[in-house]
Amino acid sequence: MSKIKIAIVGVGNCASALVQGLYYYGKAQTKEETLGLRYLSLGGFRPQDIQIVAAFDVDQRKVGQDLSEAIFANPNTAPKVVDVPWQNLIVQKGPVLDGVSQALREVVKVSDATEVDVSEELRQSDAEIVINLLPSGAVKASQWYADQAIKAGCAFVNATPTYIASDVLWARKFEDATLPVVGDDLIDQVGATTLHKTLLKLLSQHGVRIIETYQLDVGGGTESLDTLERTRKVKRVMKTRSVSSALSYEAEVVAGSTDYVDFLKNRRDSYFWIKGVYFCNTPMQIDLKLSTVDAPNAGSTLFDVIRAVKIALQRGIKGAVLSISAYAFKHPPQLVPLEVAEKMFMDFIRNRD
Ligand SMILES: NC(=O)c1ccc[n+]([C@@H]2O[C@H](COP(=O)([O-])OP(=O)(O)OC[C@H]3O[C@@H](n4cnc5c(N)ncnc54)[C@H](O)[C@@H]3O)[C@@H](O)[C@H]2O)c1
Repeated sequence: MSKIKIAIVGVGNCASALVQGLYYYGKAQTKEETLGLRYLSLGGFRPQDIQIVAAFDVDQRKVGQDLSEAIFANPNTAPKVVDVPWQNLIVQKGPVLDGVSQALREVVKVSDATEVDVSEELRQSDAEIVINLLPSGAVKASQWYADQAIKAGCAFVNATPTYIASDVLWARKFEDATLPVVGDDLIDQVGATTLHKTLLKLLSQHGVRIIETYQLDVGGGTESLDTLERTRKVKRVMKTRSVSSALSYEAEVVAGSTDYVDFLKNRRDSYFWIKGVYFCNTPMQIDLKLSTVDAPNAGSTLFDVIRAVKIALQRGIKGAVLSISAYAFKHPPQLVPLEVAEKMFMDFIRNRD
């Protein structure tokens, strides 16, 4: 199997989990060793086939450092679960653009190193896929890196909520360049939105009529700080739309992020409230709390997406790839029910679509 050469944009908490995961599962063979992964092998690719060949950031504690050290540098708070060996891969400086918001200026220290020519570095490194892990409010920077990927002939994975794969004009740009693009806004492995939708669906299937429901969360990573300042509204729209799609009728639905609580570090607490009625109009309620750690929640999904995009590249697929986007992202070009998305994804992997 050939290696899957990827470039990381934004060496933050998600990048830390991704890199650590490559070593944690590096030699996994037995079932016990693959605990926590959805798929050990996907389309014949294993996590160890993923190779990071370039990485870009703007923080002075990361730029100029080897990737193995940069992933543990402040302000990253993703837990360390494994020793990552020296990568011989220096994190390079990209342009800041809108990557650092007002609130983030207090925690991100912008490096004064010279910016590299990103598309040229992507070409030189033989990167095939660019993984966009910028802060969620970095709209211009995300678009700029998408352009660099196109210039360098790379596929693009947009983990952020900026509309790229789901934007018709951007999807067409990738189509014109004969490159695949997937996104937008990665779905967590133990995702609050997925859990919420599954609960609503299950209750509805059992004849419960949902009347009102909300899902709110608080987190302590830099991402939550950025969300609070810049993307709270857009995330609320995306999540609410996604949760509402689990019901075939109108109900009062709210889903979004509420606040940043610094002492939570990379942890996230999600609260769910569901109110409905069942037999003879009898009321029922669910009051739930889900506690997770943010960065590792992206790892398994990213492993699946990276391998699926490699398959798309091998098949010469261009433009927005719905089967991968619907399976792994909250805002794909078209919203489809969870079980349909799962089937579309596996059909794609098995080349049956
Ligand atoms: N489980 C998850 O963590 C999860 C799930 C879904 C989506 N996402 C999305 O993934 C993205 C990354 O999340 P995170 O928690 O790793 O964020 P983070 O804040 O920890 O990391 C962002 C990184 O980008 C760097 N950066 C800022 N501007 C830059 C620029 N112009 N060029 C290069 N680097 C720049 C920052 O210095 C930082 O290292 C976010 O958009 C988030 O919404 C994450």
